[in-house]
Amino acid sequence: KVNTKLIIAIDGYSSCGKSTVAKDLAKLLNIVFIDSGAMYRCVTLYALQNGIIKNGIIDEDLLIEALHHIQISFKFDAQSKTNQTYLNGKLVENEIRGPEVSDNVSQISAIAFVRKKMVELQQAMGQTQSIVMDGRDIGTVVFPHADLKLFMTASPEIRAQRRFKEYQEKKQNIPFEEVLKNVEKRDHMDETREESPLKRADDALVLDNSELTKQEQLDFIVDQLRVRKLID
Ligand code: DC
Repeated sequence: KVNTKLIIAIDGYSSCGKSTVAKDLAKLLNIVFIDSGAMYRCVTLYALQNGIIKNGIIDEDLLIEALHHIQISFKFDAQSKTNQTYLNGKLVENEIRGPEVSDNVSQISAIAFVRKKMVELQQAMGQTQSIVMDGRDIGTVVFPHADLKLFMTASPEIRAQRRFKEYQEKKQNIPFEEVLKNVEKRDHMDETREESPLKRADDALVLDNSELTKQEQLDFIVDQLRVRKLID
């Protein structure tokens, strides 16, 4: 049982299972899960659809204007028992995970005025309800006073292996070496960008899940919440 309005921030590297843990945790506690990466992905999708990014080049004037026309929402889906992402009222959950968005989202999420707007929206979502939010800057920028902060990591090889398997399941034959390179490149971009680089908050607990099952990760977090008397 959740004792108070609860904000849980989960940050970490790409493909280390943040969203999976965040979703499971939200289900268990019966609180809202917000995937902040999905919001940057929505902005990217909108920019691609409206000619604001062309051949990897972003028209920032158009993008500033476009932010007024982008409405992002999350709706609970009873079947999958989790939130799904909507862009201007249209379900985009699958589209925002596709290769075109994935290839351009790092650039979009590095832009200061985009981040400012997303952070405002994210903070507003935490005003009135308990939430679990995952991303890169949740414990550092969005909710510096979160009740619990986690910083998730796993070795690049393990993360690449997980992603490689996902591609194979989708019958996409991408060599392992290439997947690993891509993981390392994204880590580097996330850590070195000027705006809100990926960084562990001083008071975040590190959760290296290289060798942990989903259940073990969840148990660890629930224990931490109990110790802090945030749940019974
Ligand atoms: O978690 P993800 O892979 O869906 O995130 C997509 C991109 O958005 C990734 O390049 C990192 C960026 N991102 C960010 O800069 N800040 C966040 N809070 C969440 C994601």
